[in-house]
Amino acid sequence: MRRERGPVGQMGRALPPRVVAAERAASARGFTKSCLPEVGRLLALAVAAKPGGVVAESGMGAGVGTAWLHSGLGPGARLFTVERDEELARRVADDYADDERVSVLIGDWRLLERHAPFDVFFCDGGGKRDDPQAVIDLLAPGGLLLLDDFTPSPEWPPRFEGEVDELRVFYLTHPDLDATEVLTSPAGSVVIGARRARR
Ligand SMILES: C[S@@+](CC[C@H](N)C(=O)[O-])C[C@H]1O[C@@H](n2cnc3c(N)ncnc32)[C@H](O)[C@@H]1O
Repeated sequence: MRRERGPVGQMGRALPPRVVAAERAASARGFTKSCLPEVGRLLALAVAAKPGGVVAESGMGAGVGTAWLHSGLGPGARLFTVERDEELARRVADDYADDERVSVLIGDWRLLERHAPFDVFFCDGGGKRDDPQAVIDLLAPGGLLLLDDFTPSPEWPPRFEGEVDELRVFYLTHPDLDATEVLTSPAGSVVIGARRARR
């Protein structure tokens, strides 16, 4: 059984079996953009915090993030994941044919819209950069948004490659979100936000 070498508190903890299988599949295909276990634990935690919730993932890749989200899914919850690469998506769909809570969508991330609002949204493919406001609009009140692959920056506003990271600033300061940035590894961070309920 493979175990993580992650931060203190996670060390030695076994990875969920579907995560191990997805990591193997990613490796066999040469797919290198899967989320790390440190991010995966955060995904599972967010889903577990919304029992019975509607969960979404934009950009499933080889299914590693999907497997982490799935590991936190309660009995009445639903998971919608979308990928525009048909070959990748069909393989992941096969892996979840045994679980009616999971729907694998093939095509552009906007296919998610008809299943919104979401209680958890891991936006890791389309939407994150090309239409961030639409991403926030898909969240239910109290819904959690997770965005990974940021580079930790010690200053405000955060910078990436010498420039102000306007995208990160957009999410972190959006009036409809309570958001913060969490360090998941020395070289990577996640922006996590909760959509404010309107009065
Ligand atoms: C970072 S990878 C996803 C990794 C995966 N979420 C994980 O954690 O293992 C990004 C994926 O998003 C997909 N993608 C990019 N733009 C997309 C779009 N507009 N609609 C659907 N999928 C998209 C890419 O094909 C790629 O597989």
